[in-house]
Amino acid sequence: MKIALGSDHAGFALKERIKKFLIEKGYEVLDFGTTSEESTHYPLFAQDVALAVQKGEADRGILVCGTGIGMSITANKFRGVRAALCCNEYMAKMSRLHNDANVLCLGDRVLGEDLALAIVETWINTPFEGGRHAKRVELIKNIESGCP
Ligand code: RB5
Repeated sequence: MKIALGSDHAGFALKERIKKFLIEKGYEVLDFGTTSEESTHYPLFAQDVALAVQKGEADRGILVCGTGIGMSITANKFRGVRAALCCNEYMAKMSRLHNDANVLCLGDRVLGEDLALAIVETWINTPFEGGRHAKRVELIKNIESGCP
């Protein structure tokens, strides 16, 4: 599985930690930055990761900012992207089982490192359940295709 990563300055430390974690687990990582704690703008990185997922250059994406909110708002503007802001393992699990989320958003200022890595691991390893949930994801796609 190829995973695109992105963060702003507030998410940089956690993004780096997640990158190391994923590489150690054998995943291929595409790092879209940022590259330091110098102040920058989260939409730029959300856009790069969302487009990589949309185009199929990455199977999934993980975005980190201070709260995860700005990243999720931005990533969900992109057709085909289902970005889920998760604060615990239950949300991570359900975002895969029921929503087929393809981008995970995390808040570095909200989560401890161990919890964040547990969320990532759960999210990566949980499949989409399909069935009645596939119909609902289809309905989201229908809304997207009619969007102005
Ligand atoms: C940066 O200060 C902060 O606003 C940003 O990382 C994020 O939390 C926005 O949603």
